[in-house]
Amino acid sequence: MSIKAPMPDHRPDRVPLWKHLALFRADILSTQPVRLYRAKMAEVKLPFLHSVMVNTPDLVRLVLQERPRDFPKSARVREGLRLLLGNSVFVTNGPDWEGQRRIIDPAFEGGRLRHSFPAMWAAAQASAARLRPGLQEIEAEMSHAAADVIFRTLFSIPIEDKTAAQVYHSFRAHQRSAPIVNLAALLRLPRWLPRPFARETRSTAAHIRALITALTEARMQAITAGTAPDDLATKIMTTPDPQTGACFSTGEMVDQVAIFFLAGHETSASALAWALYLVASHPEWQAQLAQEAEVLRPYLDSATAPDFGVLRHMPLIRDTMREALRLYPPVPMLVRETARPEVFRKRKLGRGAQVIVSLWHLGRHEGIWPDPHAFDPERWQRESTKACARDGYLPFSAGPRVCPGAGFAMAEAVLILARLLLDWQFHALPDKRPVPIAHMTVRARDGIWLDCIKR
Ligand code: HEM
Repeated sequence: MSIKAPMPDHRPDRVPLWKHLALFRADILSTQPVRLYRAKMAEVKLPFLHSVMVNTPDLVRLVLQERPRDFPKSARVREGLRLLLGNSVFVTNGPDWEGQRRIIDPAFEGGRLRHSFPAMWAAAQASAARLRPGLQEIEAEMSHAAADVIFRTLFSIPIEDKTAAQVYHSFRAHQRSAPIVNLAALLRLPRWLPRPFARETRSTAAHIRALITALTEARMQAITAGTAPDDLATKIMTTPDPQTGACFSTGEMVDQVAIFFLAGHETSASALAWALYLVASHPEWQAQLAQEAEVLRPYLDSATAPDFGVLRHMPLIRDTMREALRLYPPVPMLVRETARPEVFRKRKLGRGAQVIVSLWHLGRHEGIWPDPHAFDPERWQRESTKACARDGYLPFSAGPRVCPGAGFAMAEAVLILARLLLDWQFHALPDKRPVPIAHMTVRARDGIWLDCIKR
């Protein structure tokens, strides 16, 4: 099986700066030239911006794993997200970040994942029931399903809950109005220069935070009263930092809930939507996956959810998710900056230079993968893929800042994909081939439209 998966529209090698910036604001994939799938490093050096994209395994390891403290999260990314995320773990650095991870990480460890599994199953069942026959925009469906998973696992409420539904709809409005990066910050314009956000961006961010604050305050009261359900929110809010003994305050928890919702629902939705498109484009493979999903059938009308261990019996569906994440990593690029002068491949970088690790290009790099643009889920059964994956498969990043939700996300994605394939058959239409673009996550320019047929 070796069919080329849809690619972005790539820009020509040389374009004027104004055009580059305009493209960048609309979509960070089409602004990249095709040669980056072969390049070891790419550099942009302007009076107000020095940026390198590192594409070799040794440099990626250096930045993410060997010396991560010398390459902190970029202020440029923080700038774009501060309205919504405040001081959340996604944007902090140094001791603040370390303390936050000490509290958050235990909530996503193996044992707790097992605990979240019945809530994921309930969301998967609801998603299969919500889908309608005929042509459907599947990204929106998956966004709904992934948001449902987050609310059920974090706060024990389904997406139909009034507050949950309001948060979800406000997030969608926020994403439509928020730019991917604040250009003033990207270009390092002087700090006194105003960096306005659109009025709608401000008001949707404030609305979302007010809703999350209400949920978090109610939970704090339930914890105090001893009536709180045993879910992720309770676990995180009652876990003390093992070094300082302090728990998150309500305000600190609001920042974290905002990132769990943002990082946890947009990304999973993107991964699932692309996986479904790839499966829909390969009918024979889809039939094999549907067969594998039969392991879930005994639970369809049962009051008992399957156990976490059921995932072991769906290796082809897991490999399909891996292949989708390789081709369409939901977070396409990681942005860091140099904390001190560096020399990369004989190029000098001053302090504050931007360093980009492109998960998108690593996943399709011609120097790492055979047939890099082909959808070939069976590659994951080959021994030789281990070395390629070590160098080029980083959809959840690597090193100390690796995604804490990686195991959670894989469990959720395999379960939802399998559950949908039990009831539904998906067909991709030749005139609706999606074009990948990236805003906050990798999406399709005009959505992902699939013909859904009830089995
Ligand atoms: C397919 C789904 C997912 C993908 C591909 C993904 C990918 C990533 C990546 C690449 C990063 C690193 C970003 C950077 O360093 O700039 C990250 C960070 C993060 N992710 Fe995920 N993620 C997914 C799902 C989730 C879920 C379900 C949660 C939680 C419920 C989550 C929570 C986080 C948090 C809190 C961070 C920040 C970690 C830190 O900076 O220390 N993610 N994710």
